[in-house]
Amino acid sequence: MISNNVVLILLAGGKGTRVNKKTTKQMISVKNITILEMNIIKFKKQIRNISIQIVTNNQDFLKVSNLCRKYSLLNPILGGDERHKSTYNGLKAVEHFEPKYVLIHDTARPIISSNVIKKLISYSKKEVFCVVPVLKINDAIRTITTNTLKSTIDKKNKVLVQTPQLCNFKILKKLLEKNKKKFEDESSVFLNNSLKVIAIEGDPLTLKITYEKDLNLLEPHLSRNKSTYITKIGNGFDIHRFDNRKNIKNNFIIIGGIKIKNPKRLIGHSDSDVLLHAITDSILGVVNKGDIGSIFPPSEKKWQNADSSIFLKHASKLLQKIHGTINNIDAIIVCETPKILDYSKQMQENIAKILKINEQKISIKGKTSESIGFIGRQEGIVAMVSTAIQVRDKHFSE
Ligand code: CTP
Ligand code: MG
Repeated sequence: MISNNVVLILLAGGKGTRVNKKTTKQMISVKNITILEMNIIKFKKQIRNISIQIVTNNQDFLKVSNLCRKYSLLNPILGGDERHKSTYNGLKAVEHFEPKYVLIHDTARPIISSNVIKKLISYSKKEVFCVVPVLKINDAIRTITTNTLKSTIDKKNKVLVQTPQLCNFKILKKLLEKNKKKFEDESSVFLNNSLKVIAIEGDPLTLKITYEKDLNLLEPHLSRNKSTYITKIGNGFDIHRFDNRKNIKNNFIIIGGIKIKNPKRLIGHSDSDVLLHAITDSILGVVNKGDIGSIFPPSEKKWQNADSSIFLKHASKLLQKIHGTINNIDAIIVCETPKILDYSKQMQENIAKILKINEQKISIKGKTSESIGFIGRQEGIVAMVSTAIQVRDKHFSE
């Protein structure tokens, strides 16, 4: 859907004082994505090429600026100490676009229905003052003081009002300039001036996170949004040759970060840990920004005898940058000796510690080469690894 005469204002200027968290509501992360970012992804996907103005606060300004850069949004601006003041600041910031309409949304509502957005945008082709999504009230309404009910209220003709709200830009700005009192939302500004507000059907899931229990209620729906994630598979392979010179005492090899006594040592630039190298390369395969050889060239002296956990930690950091999470690592080590089974548990624990993941996600299997070929002749050791990683679907987020 494209819309040329609508600018989107995302309100994220509040402090979320009623949710007992260090961060504001919009900066709370569920599965590595902030609630604000969920809003951006949804609207960008639904309304192609729409200009998006985020209204933020001092506390979040830097993080929000980074998000705006990431998604090519307008530079964020600061809101006021009340919601209607933040709205007004947003309107002023987009004035130079001379939009006919603004779509104004509380980012504290992370789930926005596609149908609602479509319906609202369809009104931007018409002449309207304000259009809002509403919910019918199904429960009975009563007035109350403390914990005592006082009177009944007829629920007929009563609705709950949500966002996003489509508003005539010029009229809303003028009305906010004229009225200095506090408004809960945009529709109340229009109603206060006896202007027609059109209601469309809202979505109960467009719940505003106000208290922590609202977040708990929405969380399964937020993390269920699997369409933003895909699984990628990275492959890793490594081979190191045994040093066949005789009479070398105290020989050992390192596999999976575990030191193992062995008659022959392995030759390599670093510590020759075939397993860590193959796992590192499998992760780098998903990150897709070079491989172990190009990031840690053997030509560089500093990697001589290097502890290979450095390489793995680096790959893990790159993975974190793209919000990737490892589903599982499946490794095969092919060698005649040592017997991998004797050490696989230790290797598993060590790798889990380096990657900060559950060791159940790591499988390490040993195989011999049945005395055939170069491995059978004990000329070297091979490691092969497949790693499944969950990452954000780029097509969805861009
Ligand atoms: N908002 C805003 N500027 C303000 C206050 C609120 O942009 N000065 C935004 C919030 O970020 C939120 C929406 O308006 O997306 C609805 O406000 P509310 O639920 O009250 O959020 P907070 O003000 O952040 O929460 P609290 O009132 O509990 O502090
Ligand atoms: Mg508030």
